Amino acid sequence: MPAADVVARILTPEIRARLFQPTGSATGLPGVAYTDRDFFDAERDLTFSRNWVCAGVAGDVPAPGHQTPIEIAGIPLLLVQGADGVIRAFHNICRHRGAQLVAAPTEGRAVVCPYHAWSYALDGTLLRTPSFCGPGVHGHDGFDPAAHGLRRVRCETWGPLIFVNLDMDAAPLGDLLAPLKARWAGYDFGLLRAGGGLRFELAANWKLAIENFVERYHLPFVHPQLNSVSSVKHTLHITDGERFVGVGSRNFAPPPVTPAHPLPTFPGLDADALKRAEYVELFPNVMIGVHANHVYAFIIQPVAVDRTVERFEFFFIGDAAMRPEFSAARAQMIDLIALVNGEDIDIVQRLQIGCRSPAMSGSVFSPVMEDTTHKFQKIVVERLLADAGL
Ligand code: FES
Ligand SMILES: [Fe+2]
Repeated sequence: MPAADVVARILTPEIRARLFQPTGSATGLPGVAYTDRDFFDAERDLTFSRNWVCAGVAGDVPAPGHQTPIEIAGIPLLLVQGADGVIRAFHNICRHRGAQLVAAPTEGRAVVCPYHAWSYALDGTLLRTPSFCGPGVHGHDGFDPAAHGLRRVRCETWGPLIFVNLDMDAAPLGDLLAPLKARWAGYDFGLLRAGGGLRFELAANWKLAIENFVERYHLPFVHPQLNSVSSVKHTLHITDGERFVGVGSRNFAPPPVTPAHPLPTFPGLDADALKRAEYVELFPNVMIGVHANHVYAFIIQPVAVDRTVERFEFFFIGDAAMRPEFSAARAQMIDLIALVNGEDIDIVQRLQIGCRSPAMSGSVFSPVMEDTTHKFQKIVVERLLADAGL
């Protein structure tokens, strides 16, 4: 069934009407939006194929020649850092017979197909087709190598984040990012230095992981330790974005590690910003946590309707932050997320189980604490309808 028909079947006019009510009287998406395989496929074909999707971080292709396979919307892609330092994305298939080119991160001066050894420059240009027309005969008059370079995919970066868009006609990433860049203009992302990562797998739909992330109502109940360093009392909500939504804390105050080596902070922050933390979901699949002394990217990779891979990448501020005396302070931030996200996984998986119930006809939302989760669901629906042409 075409994706647009699936969207129309699941997101009935009644469901849409109930969702687009004020938060206190709205009804959220029904369980079927998290369990239906056709709906998941429609999300891949629309949401993840027509929007800028976070595909990884600069450290995935850290130097010229590095090649890393990824999957977006179930489609095999390849990230490559060119000789010119530019990160590009290609369909990860050979122009000869379509073999997957790169199966695991590698490096080299060319992309070489393992099947018949066709090779491509790092910018995708077809270089060699060895013995294509018999031993020692590498081509024929009717074959134009220039027309058989790797198929490009749109690829742009923001700081250390890599985004791809399978829609060649999409508006530039910069248009989408402008409001968020303006919000965080005081934070120089050029100073970010990669300092570690975490990976989780969970048995839940990708949207549930995000819905959980953008509300702090559950902090006292699920995350007592986090609530002690970043109390729900100091919560702020970020609901003015068209494609982003988030929460934050006016007082993010983890205890100092011993011996005390406070992490370097972004320069030029005022007293409020030094205590502030913001956690923004940039639709569809990356959440960015911005603190005075570190930033993390929480990248969501939908694998199946009820299976999601989560990846956190941590960044600290400037070269100095990477010195050994700050290792305990860096580890503190990573360990906090390891703890908190571990706590979240159990809850999010319970949400998935709840979605399997025919009684799950849609949530009610706290108008005070969950306008963010409500807004995320509205963005999901708005984008699906727009991308489906409905
Ligand atoms: S499929 Fe790649 S060289 Fe033949
Ligand atoms: Fe949580």
